[in-house]
Amino acid sequence: MPNDASIKIDGKEYPYPVMIGSEGEKAIDVRNLRKDSGHIFYDQGYGNTGSCESQVTFLDGDNGILRHRGYPIDQLAKHSDYIETAYLVIYGELPTEAQRKKFGDLLRENAHIEPQMQRLFEGYPKNTPPMVVLASLVASLAGYYPDLATNNFEKDLQQFDLSAAMAISKIRTLGAMVYRHGRGLPFMHPKALPFCDNFLHLMFSEPYHDYVAIPEVTSALNLILLMHADHEQNCSTSTVRMVGSSGANLFTSLAAGIGALSGPLHGGANTAVMNMLQSIHDENDDGTRFIEAAKGGSKSNRLMGFGHAVYRNFDPRARVIGEACSVVLKKLGKSDPLLDIAQNLEQAALKDDYFVSRKLYPNVDFYSGIIFRALGIPTNMFTVMFAIGRAPGWIANWKEVASNPKGRIYRPRQVYTGPVKRDYVPMARRG
Ligand code: SDX
Repeated sequence: MPNDASIKIDGKEYPYPVMIGSEGEKAIDVRNLRKDSGHIFYDQGYGNTGSCESQVTFLDGDNGILRHRGYPIDQLAKHSDYIETAYLVIYGELPTEAQRKKFGDLLRENAHIEPQMQRLFEGYPKNTPPMVVLASLVASLAGYYPDLATNNFEKDLQQFDLSAAMAISKIRTLGAMVYRHGRGLPFMHPKALPFCDNFLHLMFSEPYHDYVAIPEVTSALNLILLMHADHEQNCSTSTVRMVGSSGANLFTSLAAGIGALSGPLHGGANTAVMNMLQSIHDENDDGTRFIEAAKGGSKSNRLMGFGHAVYRNFDPRARVIGEACSVVLKKLGKSDPLLDIAQNLEQAALKDDYFVSRKLYPNVDFYSGIIFRALGIPTNMFTVMFAIGRAPGWIANWKEVASNPKGRIYRPRQVYTGPVKRDYVPMARRG
């Protein structure tokens, strides 16, 4: 790499090489900056900092481009399904027939949650937030499968195919169990069904009546999970990498990612969007109240489902999901007043200079809840659905960390702004 960049500090030049990614992105390699100059960079939120090299997903925020292993998201949405895209994200290539069958078999064979582990649910009040239960149960997988969760990179990678399939399949099953636990319903057993059909069975079947999903429902679920499969170094994926970099096993790292995703600024936004749309509907409002409050700049009043840390253009997933809403509702013979409210809110915001000047557009969470609702999934389960969809991306990123022979533990620095050195004060002289 040519030394195309240099940093001048106190009159002294420090030359650094420029890395160029496969899509032409440029990064100044400053791994030696602190050793050379005693300085570090300060980049709150890491918006200008690359934490890793990755081959999984490419985002172009200015042009609204999203590709998984080179395949554009709109082509995957049109031609692929969630499990095929999960395989692509994890293994880097679209699966052959044989690979797809083996992956599907592993997912079906590992869909169950063993009885002893099911009893962990008894420790949670029915009204425990679903993401709290999910994070805890996923972390527990490391206890039930210790030979897959040794915290030894080499050993854990030897079992990676099984661990990865187990994680995807059991996060799906646990997601459905979280729903049923919250309603005091008995848990259903997985069947030898395709992934999405099994999820809907686990969610909505009863001991006396099997829920059999119509193709329109399973294709809508496939699409929405596919659209969540991975998204570069977002907050939860970076968390999975951070935790995995210490040598922590896959299940423990995924549980940390679930915790990060639960925040309202990240995966919790899809729930917040629906609550916002429902309030507008119930108060017969036109959304102005939310738009005006959002312009106040406080983090707690933001227009949920709008804006993105990377996209300064439309989130391509929002386009696909937004277009799919009307199609799915029509196929299901349903209508949803919240879709009209969302579309009106989008139009109003996109005409408002506050949002236009800050390049704030709808993101993946703005319309996803409309589809989840059409499938009968309650609002408090929307972020669980996001976690089920995102599992392949987290797994792919954990694998990149675990299999990198030159990988280092993630250990950012800081700028200390606390008290300078001072001596201990005995109790008698305090206050
Ligand atoms: C996801 O990173 C990913 O890839 C995430 C994700 C994924 O697939 O993993 O895409 C999923 O998390 C999507 C985002 C879901 N969150 C929301 O919809 C919550 C609402 N959005 C925001 O809170 C916000 O846009 C973030 C958190 C998404 C991005 O935050 P940033 O990058 O810190 O944005 P910023 O603070 O730099 O914003 C710049 C300006 C600020 O105003 P000024 O200080 O310049 O006056 O825009 C304002 C912000 O206050 N702003 C908003 C806003 N988003 C940003 N103002 C009102 N409403 C909003 N939604």
